[in-house]
Amino acid sequence: MKHLLMLLGILTLVFSLSACTFGVDSDSEENITVYTDRHYDTDRDLYDTFEEETGIKVNILSDDADRLINKLENEGEDTPADILVLADAGRLHRAKERDILQSVQSDTLNANIPENYRDVDSEWFGLTRRARVMVYHPDRVDESELSTYEALAGDEWEGRVVTRSSTNIYNQSLIASLIAINGEDETKSFIEGLVSNFARKPSGNDRDQAKAVMKGTGDVAILNTYYMGRMAYSSDEYERDVAETLEVYFPNQETTGTHVNVSGAGVAKHTDNQEGAVRFIEFLSSTQAQESYASANYEYPINPDVSAHELLQGWGTFTTQDLDLSELGVHSETAAIIMDESGWE
Ligand code: FE2
Repeated sequence: MKHLLMLLGILTLVFSLSACTFGVDSDSEENITVYTDRHYDTDRDLYDTFEEETGIKVNILSDDADRLINKLENEGEDTPADILVLADAGRLHRAKERDILQSVQSDTLNANIPENYRDVDSEWFGLTRRARVMVYHPDRVDESELSTYEALAGDEWEGRVVTRSSTNIYNQSLIASLIAINGEDETKSFIEGLVSNFARKPSGNDRDQAKAVMKGTGDVAILNTYYMGRMAYSSDEYERDVAETLEVYFPNQETTGTHVNVSGAGVAKHTDNQEGAVRFIEFLSSTQAQESYASANYEYPINPDVSAHELLQGWGTFTTQDLDLSELGVHSETAAIIMDESGWE
């Protein structure tokens, strides 16, 4: 009797373990696993809506873009990932070059996403846009003093510019875009001039740059547009004050355009749920999801049928760099090297 009970116990344990394994199996038709470097709570809300509407459960693994790319590459055919979501076109291009994504043919994606915001081989699709703009304190800077990114290297800006570190992906892509447009030599001279104008050693995130301008550490900062939106509607009173006080400036309007980058997604080469993965990206490009990106995270929608948040609309329209976004990936390594060589910490 004792042995029979023990046997029953073991059988129950084995059964529940295997049931449990099937339950969390990321290769199941009812599940998709997303590797993402986007760090916004609003994404989870959006993924929850997708789960409710489709019954497909979304597992998320968050990490830094380069680590996720390496992970996918190392996992090869055994990867649990079905989708890679990255907040940078340069890194999406790098993922394509590492052969960890697959080409996707979808009329829905082609209809929802303008051609210049998706990969030429349909291996990744842009989902949201952000501009990397200047933010200044109107008490210390007159708008007429501002013009281009390049002009921030001028002597008149000595000790007045604040930025975050050169290891940051947003800055690397900005510099990569300038290499694509102006060439490596001209960009290196620009960075040397810019670094000599830094008000302090680079530190903090994008929001901290705006706060440093607010405090008077510097007069002008470079940051992504959605951070001004997030601060304007923040639960923190000081952040709301920062967003209300500082002004947004779109650089290079008379020259080469403001730097715009995208967040985007691609289907993992070795996904076991290609159908679910495509459905997920299609959902993110839909009017419904695009409205959520615009209203909850203050990003510019990629789908032309959806309007930007009213705060962003208030800043007006602007000219963007006329650049194939894969160029950001082509030049990102050079960008990181010359930023480092020029003393941008
Ligand atoms: Fe960000």
